[in-house]
Amino acid sequence: RKMGNSKKFKVLISRSDMPESGVDILKKQCELKVWDGPLPIPKADFIKSVQGVNGIYCCITDKIDKELLDAAGPELKVVATISVGYDHIDVGECKKRGIKIGYTPDVLTDATAELTLALLLCTSRRLPEAMHEARTGGWVSWAPTWMTGPGLADATVGIVGFGRIGQAVAKRVKSFNTSQLLYFNRSEKSEAKEIGATKVSFDELLTKSDFVICCAALAPETKEMFNRNAFKKMKNSAVFINTSRGGIVDQNALIEALQNGTIRAAGLDVTSPEPLPLDSPLFKLKNCVILPHIGSAAIQTRSNMSEMTANNILAGLNGTKMPAQLE
Ligand code: DGY
Repeated sequence: RKMGNSKKFKVLISRSDMPESGVDILKKQCELKVWDGPLPIPKADFIKSVQGVNGIYCCITDKIDKELLDAAGPELKVVATISVGYDHIDVGECKKRGIKIGYTPDVLTDATAELTLALLLCTSRRLPEAMHEARTGGWVSWAPTWMTGPGLADATVGIVGFGRIGQAVAKRVKSFNTSQLLYFNRSEKSEAKEIGATKVSFDELLTKSDFVICCAALAPETKEMFNRNAFKKMKNSAVFINTSRGGIVDQNALIEALQNGTIRAAGLDVTSPEPLPLDSPLFKLKNCVILPHIGSAAIQTRSNMSEMTANNILAGLNGTKMPAQLE
């Protein structure tokens, strides 16, 4: 590891199909070990491959836990994930060892907010069902009450988790002429005033909202916050949207709420587990729209995320300021 050696760092990349833009950045200074495959690296292989590396470029399907960090050893200085979420990383264990953590906030905010709106409209206006009807002969005539669903105009929209993505969703939702924007967040957000959103308690948000959108990060405090009790408090006509993490929802409680009409419909970009098993009752429900965790899957966004991940690794290893370090 002499200075001037162009490949001074060893970095493990956990997939073969990481967007190239980031991989190209790393190539210049790092000797890359790339897990050969488009599926998550099995734990045993991860443990083997990680030994002696200086940096790990990982994604949300890779668990970065004590066992893995132990296997990596003291040469590991940076873990960078191509995601804004970091619930797959044991942050405490990394901190204990002085390992820096890189993540990708901001660059995926617009893409994720767009997808959230797409999913909301898809769910409320029943697009998958309507497309199916059109294709399979259910469309026998235009009909006054057929395929109707709630509109956003004049509706009350509640956003749970009012960080970057929650706020970006609020700004977009507003353009649909909603009557009221409510949010629930641990802390008061100064941006809320300009956006025109009012902070309320979780209970108030649930009881008043026609649409409940979850944009909160998964943490011990938010785990299964959408439980049976929460769904009970929601209006029977409410539409629930989740584009954050499946673990925020007690999924059995949601299934029950959708089956019993406790709420009208749900749109999920995230589930637990992922992928959602094909025999999940959620797939049988017409009032549930399920997407395979594609919130940030805009082409340029993924490329930007990859570059940010690479630059996080390089900066972390070179001892300069990381573009986005988890403090
Ligand atoms: C994230 O960034 O946390 C998403 O879940 C994947 O882009």
